[in-house]
Amino acid sequence: MVEPPTILVTGGAGYIGAHAVKALQQAGYRVLVLDNLSYGHAELLVPLGAELIVGDTHDRPLLDRIFQDYTIAAVMHFAAFIAVGESVHHPAIYYRNNVLGSLTLLEAMLAAEVKKFVFSSTCAVYGLPQAIPMTEEHPINPLSPYATSKRMVEQILADFDQAYGLKSVIFRYFNASGADPTGQLGEDHYPETHLIPLALLTALGHRSHLSLFGTDYDTPDGTAIRDYIHVCDLADAHILGLQYLLKNGDSEVFNLGNGNGFSVREVIQTAEQVTGLPIPVVESPRRAGDAPVLVGSSTKAREILAWQPQYAELETIIGHAWQWHQQRHPKSKS
Ligand SMILES: NC(=O)c1ccc[n+]([C@@H]2O[C@H](COP(=O)([O-])OP(=O)(O)OC[C@H]3O[C@@H](n4cnc5c(N)ncnc54)[C@H](O)[C@@H]3O)[C@@H](O)[C@H]2O)c1
Repeated sequence: MVEPPTILVTGGAGYIGAHAVKALQQAGYRVLVLDNLSYGHAELLVPLGAELIVGDTHDRPLLDRIFQDYTIAAVMHFAAFIAVGESVHHPAIYYRNNVLGSLTLLEAMLAAEVKKFVFSSTCAVYGLPQAIPMTEEHPINPLSPYATSKRMVEQILADFDQAYGLKSVIFRYFNASGADPTGQLGEDHYPETHLIPLALLTALGHRSHLSLFGTDYDTPDGTAIRDYIHVCDLADAHILGLQYLLKNGDSEVFNLGNGNGFSVREVIQTAEQVTGLPIPVVESPRRAGDAPVLVGSSTKAREILAWQPQYAELETIIGHAWQWHQQRHPKSKS
């Protein structure tokens, strides 16, 4: 019997990585997770039965051992620090983890002749939008060390393709959201900075209020509009990107977004409807650097990868997240 290909998933104990692990298993791949558990949750992988190596992308001897011990067909690289605001105050930590960690991993791959790589990038590499929806051709202008760290890895990948023939699929995600529909997996960042989990944690009584930054944008209700893409749709795109590379596809960059924007007020109202609970809001001034509207075009991923997102409705995205948060963070009694 032919063994299924083994895929190394870095950051697979994190939010998006764990959903990708499940999708990979369902698609018939063998999965090996490398995660240092700085932010990940090992227990998410237990019901999946995924093999976890607790370790770091900076640990070159460990990486060399992994590539020696397993026949790895490709690497999916989710491991990174992700907090934009923190990166502004601690850029060194972000460049070290996100850029040097990726470089060390890529060098270990080359040494082992593993030359297929799926990379988690971000729409933040585009900076403030010059046109909506944003396509992959949009000018690049990262505005934070986090976004710059992702852009630097994108550049490394372009250069590594040219020099060493390492083929990559770069996915620029818009706002990852939602949770596994069975309730098995979901988002659990600490500190949490994303709107939907913050709204749900407020509904559950774990936070006194939700801060709404900016009510005077030039949008229909004055609040900022963002593109929320269901995490399972992201995971599906990763399977398609991997299959594309395994069939010797050339390096490509793809946006992954919903194509529909939702305002902060729409998200809060929908979260109140889904939960049946009030979400107290405190209105605050705009935050520096926040664009009024960020919505992506994913036409390229639909056309080249035949990607078809399944969960575009905001009610569905928030409903799945609500199912997860209720069991992960039960309602506070006070
Ligand atoms: N969440 C979003 O909306 C979003 C949007 C755009 C891009 N991304 C990117 O997607 C990826 C996954 O994001 P997430 O929301 O799942 O974050 P997450 O923090 O839940 O997952 C990241 C995982 O990587 C691990 N990790 C970090 N540094 C590591 C290292 N040096 N070695 C080994 N493991 C390490 C952490 O322990 C964690 O489990 C990140 O690369 C992020 O930049 C996320």
